[in-house]
Amino acid sequence: MIPKEKIEEVKERSSIVGVISEYMPLTKRGINHVGLCPFHSEKTPSFTVNEAKKIFYCFGCNTTGNAITFVMKKEGLPFPEALRSIARKYGIPVPEERSAAADSREPLYQALKLAVEYFSREIKAPEGRPGKEYLVKRGFDGEIASRFHIGYAPESWDGLALFLRKRGVAMEAAEKAGLVIRKKDSSGYYDRFRGRLIFPITDSRGRVTGFGGRALDDSALPKYLNSPESPVFKKGETLYGFYQARQSISRENSAIVVEGYFDLLALHRYGFTNSVATMGTALTPEQIRTIKGHTSSVYALFDSDQAGKNAAIRSLGLFLDEEVTCRAILLSEGKDPDEFLASLGPGAMREAIARAQPLMEFFLKELKLKFDLTTPEGKRRYLDGAMQYLSKVRNVAEKGHYAGVAASALGLPPEVVFSELKMPVGERRAGAGERPSRAREAGANLAEFTILKVILKFPALLDEKVEEAIEAFKDPDLKRIGVAAAGTLKGGKALDAGALIEGLGDERLSGVAAGIIFKEDDGFIEAPERMLEDSLKRVLNKGKLKESTREMIQMLEDMGISDVASDIKKRTAKTSSEK
Ligand code: CTP
Ligand code: MN
Repeated sequence: MIPKEKIEEVKERSSIVGVISEYMPLTKRGINHVGLCPFHSEKTPSFTVNEAKKIFYCFGCNTTGNAITFVMKKEGLPFPEALRSIARKYGIPVPEERSAAADSREPLYQALKLAVEYFSREIKAPEGRPGKEYLVKRGFDGEIASRFHIGYAPESWDGLALFLRKRGVAMEAAEKAGLVIRKKDSSGYYDRFRGRLIFPITDSRGRVTGFGGRALDDSALPKYLNSPESPVFKKGETLYGFYQARQSISRENSAIVVEGYFDLLALHRYGFTNSVATMGTALTPEQIRTIKGHTSSVYALFDSDQAGKNAAIRSLGLFLDEEVTCRAILLSEGKDPDEFLASLGPGAMREAIARAQPLMEFFLKELKLKFDLTTPEGKRRYLDGAMQYLSKVRNVAEKGHYAGVAASALGLPPEVVFSELKMPVGERRAGAGERPSRAREAGANLAEFTILKVILKFPALLDEKVEEAIEAFKDPDLKRIGVAAAGTLKGGKALDAGALIEGLGDERLSGVAAGIIFKEDDGFIEAPERMLEDSLKRVLNKGKLKESTREMIQMLEDMGISDVASDIKKRTAKTSSEK
């Protein structure tokens, strides 16, 4: 167990804005910092961080917590590991636990970091000449190589294994990280990467999580060997080069996405430093979200062959779902970005980028070629295909535009397609699941809500009458929050938002509480005493009214006038549910 004081110290000394900023860009807005929520899909920032209160809250999905819970959620770490990761950042020593809960990924990161050291050393050593020569042959100088820490794995069966062992790395950790492989007879370990140029792969925070290794000889198989999936390496969630590109992506407000390692290096070399690579796999929602924190405009460079076109169209749905604009660039015949730049230069690439067409436009053009639009059958299939993506476009101006494009292909007036889009299409669910908080609020008892809002902002106004009112709250959520708040505020204490949220111990309830706490930041309360008094009256009198009604019903029943009694019962039930 980590001592309580340690946990407090980490909470106290860390900056929640500092911690979260390592994962996503935050912008200052008033007393808060805001950004695009990493926990749900959105286009305008509702994710809000308050440094003074040391909590974050998303107005869109109600997720809330402190710096530690943020790291837990974002990295899927248990509490002690998340706490340690923050403590390390601030140089706060936390006693190691020898128990099972110790940070299981740390040795892997350590081994991977040391492996980079080894591969970089080797490319400079005499044994590394083949690697260095290959790199130069492909047109890369020392600057790019060092920016991406390109290294070389020599033709040795145990060079890395020995190096790691000497540095005190446990072979089990090196194996888990995918650096070494256990021999069949269990007599030891051998290096995974041999005789390959090495590309270290980092996560968005710059930690090395895996490697890609290219054979120097084109006939060798496989051409690329990558680290296996591991507790720290998830290829589908990683974008090669993102760490180096992220500032440039923000600055340029666009990102260029390519497939290959060398494509990425070539783009950076020619000044397109906002480029990232998917490492050969189809783009995933996680990868788009990584980019989305920095820009909502993506240029995707696809091969011009059919496979490239199909890949482009497959990614359209993802981009629409994430509300990221994607423009497709199809590079001329059989050239990947690396070859394109080498033969035609950066000017031609700039032109290709300028000519890039929105992926949706490209899709509609391709779709048109697929069907015979002179036949009703062809028209129907074209419309079906178009609707599938048109229905996902959220922005009404864009939706109208593309509905117009589809309509003209069909020889119909645009209104026809547009009105078709307003019909409930099966897969259409625009806005679904958004802003559940609004609905909750509206349904919640306004007076109860107001009481909580006032006392959370003006704790000094908490008195016995308020506590009595809280006891009488009808909304069970608001009641639990009220009771917890009253508990932490007793004795004129200032509000510890983090403690309140944590103390509730229920994610949904914490979200409701954080919603109330953050609400008072953007609205302001005039005359809080008056508001409190009015709300208290309503809550307490309602209770009394109920009480007297119950007595009356009882009396009527005692008197044998039960039909009138049940009529009153029905009516009161109805009015109280209408509130
Ligand atoms: N890739 C991979 N494993 C393979 C082949 C490819 O991981 N066996 C990934 C690599 O990230 C590679 C990308 O897919 O960079 C694109 O593959 P490909 O087009 O075949 O290679 P290039 O990037 O063009 O490689 P090079 O220029 O070195 O030939
Ligand atoms: Mn290539």
